[in-house]
Amino acid sequence: MSRLAVIIPAAGSGSRMGTHTPKPFLTLNGKTILEHTISAFAKVDEVVDIRIATSVDWFDQVEAILNKFADDVESASVIEGGDERQHSIFNALQSLDNSIDLIAVHDAVRPFVSAELIRKCAHRASEVGGAIVAVPAKDTIKKLGDGFEISETPDRSKLWQAQTPQVFRADLLLEAYLKAREDDFLGTDDASLVERIGGVVEVIEGDRKNLKITYPIDLKVAGLILNEEDL
Ligand code: C5P
Repeated sequence: MSRLAVIIPAAGSGSRMGTHTPKPFLTLNGKTILEHTISAFAKVDEVVDIRIATSVDWFDQVEAILNKFADDVESASVIEGGDERQHSIFNALQSLDNSIDLIAVHDAVRPFVSAELIRKCAHRASEVGGAIVAVPAKDTIKKLGDGFEISETPDRSKLWQAQTPQVFRADLLLEAYLKAREDDFLGTDDASLVERIGGVVEVIEGDRKNLKITYPIDLKVAGLILNEEDL
C-alpha cells in the first residue's frame, strides 16, 4: 500500500467571499469547512500524513481541529502558508520526509470530495506519475485578448475544469515545485507545474458536487448538499 500525504492549502483570504474570516474557517452545519475537508481524507487508510498550510493567526484553530483526527493518521501538522497558494504548498512540501510515496494536494475549500475519488487518483498517480480530478467544461470558454474582445473559442469537447485532489509521486511533485521556483513560474494548479517539466498527468473524471467554495452562492449550495447528506 502506498503511503500518501495530503497537503491542504488553507491560507487564502476571504476576499471573493466578501467575509473577514478566511473561507476554510467559515462554518457549515456547526463545523468549519476545513474540518469537513480533513475528515474526507482521514477516512482513507492510505493517508498517513496531513499537512495544513495557513497563516499563524489560525494555527491554534487548526491544531484543535487536527487533534480530532490524531487516531486516524501517523502525523498531522500545521505549516505557515505563503502569499500565493503555490507558496503555501511549497512550504508544506519541504516539511515532508522521504517515507512518503505519493502526495495529494487538496483545496481546503472543497469539503465534498469522496474517499473513492481520492483512492482512484492515488492509484492512477502511482502508475503514471500524476492524476487529477476534473470535470468536462459545461460552459463554452472564451479566451480574451488584452481587452474584452474575444480572441479564441477553444473546442469545448477538449476542455476540462481541473479540481483537486491532484496526486503525484512525491519526487516528481518536489522536482516540479523546485523548478517552478527557479523559473519564477506561478501556476493556478499543481498539475501545471508537473506538466511543464514533462511529467505525465492524467485526468480522472470527478464529481460536480466537489465544488470549490469561493463565492457566497457556493456557500449556499454547500449548505444544501450537507442537508441532503444528513437526510
Ligand atoms: O484562492 P484560491 O481559490 O486559489 O484558493 C484555493 C485554496 O488555496 C484555498 O483552500 C485557499 O485557502 C488556499 N490558499 C493558500 N494560500 C494562499 C492562497 C490560497 O493556501 N496564499
